Amino acid sequence: MKEQFPIFRYHPELTYLDSAATAHKPDCVIDAMTHFLQRDYATVHRAAYRSSVRATELYHAAREGVRHFLNASHVDEIVFTRGTTDAINLVARAFPFQPGDEIVLSQLEHHANLVPWQMAARERGAVLKWIPLQANGSLSSELPLSPRTKIVAVTHCSNVTGAIASLAPLVQTARHVGALVLVDGAQAAAHLSVDVQALGIDFYAFSGHKCYGPTGIGILYGKKEALHRLSPLQGGGDMVDRVFPEKSTYQPPPLCFEAGTPNLIGAVGLKVALEFLQTAVYPPLLIPALALLHQIPGVRILGTPEIPLITFSIEGVHPLDLAGFLDSHQIAIRTGTLCAQPLLRFFGCEHAARISMGVYNTEEDLDRFAKILREGIRILQR
Ligand SMILES: Cc1ncc(COP(=O)(O)O)c(C=O)c1O
Repeated sequence: MKEQFPIFRYHPELTYLDSAATAHKPDCVIDAMTHFLQRDYATVHRAAYRSSVRATELYHAAREGVRHFLNASHVDEIVFTRGTTDAINLVARAFPFQPGDEIVLSQLEHHANLVPWQMAARERGAVLKWIPLQANGSLSSELPLSPRTKIVAVTHCSNVTGAIASLAPLVQTARHVGALVLVDGAQAAAHLSVDVQALGIDFYAFSGHKCYGPTGIGILYGKKEALHRLSPLQGGGDMVDRVFPEKSTYQPPPLCFEAGTPNLIGAVGLKVALEFLQTAVYPPLLIPALALLHQIPGVRILGTPEIPLITFSIEGVHPLDLAGFLDSHQIAIRTGTLCAQPLLRFFGCEHAARISMGVYNTEEDLDRFAKILREGIRILQR
């Protein structure tokens, strides 16, 4: 699989273990974007000439590709955004919260599924409520929902623990009180087969760049009725129907949420990336990686990973020193707060280290990592 990823041709010595932050791109994605730029590039929606019609068709085909990937019932339920963060901010800012409305979250969320809700709550007088966490950092089944709950926003798969949330009971309880459910799929989309209809959720957000596609493109899936509850945030070309000096009418979703010339190069790349992802087979590296880490004294694994993503701390070794040491041996791992400060605090850490594997990783990568990790611990441990 590595041979399909040019980064490893240019850097054969690289051991890349940070795919949860961003995944490298296969030839097919790079080629599709290059091909588009070289042969089919033009603006979309606005012109009658051939290349523009073709570019518009490709943009629509990309939207249909995402619909298929998520098993959404209609292509109009797919909104192109800049990424997961952008998608969640869109819902948080566009939802008509009233003072006293409740937004239910948990402390395991990535900052992208936390800070936008804090902002919305502060601006509209809504109240944040918290789903308690179990000792391993997973959501407890005690849900603080009430008739005032408007939205429950949870991650499908944690970027710290790698644990998958049990969405079914949560969705069922949310339905009872008439609340909408938004799921942050930034990590899950690259690893799980996502069926938004089977999940019964209202919004699903994910990023192209973690799914082997380009940066700057992501998706907000919104069930038709849910999208109709949001008001457009940005005005401009493409999102309008009729425009007068004093007022305008808007396009229906999804176009009313996509003001301006869209990221069509990104959309073309995303379509191919999702096709690649749907046929790619992940090597089974989670169990061997856990086994390697468990053998190393002083390693503490945070949570119970279910996707190939493991966050850990090491007694007496600062994660940032460790990352520097590994980098000097061409091994890339993620360290720091992992954009999840409340969850790291819950685990009693300020910083942690994380390895995450993509379709291109191998057992040899893990062995090399484990060997250099042991060396690093010997040198760095205080
Ligand atoms: C769980 C989770 N949510 C949201 C995000 C934000 O994604 P992006 O930076 O692509 O918007 C990430 C990125 O690491 C993530 O892991």
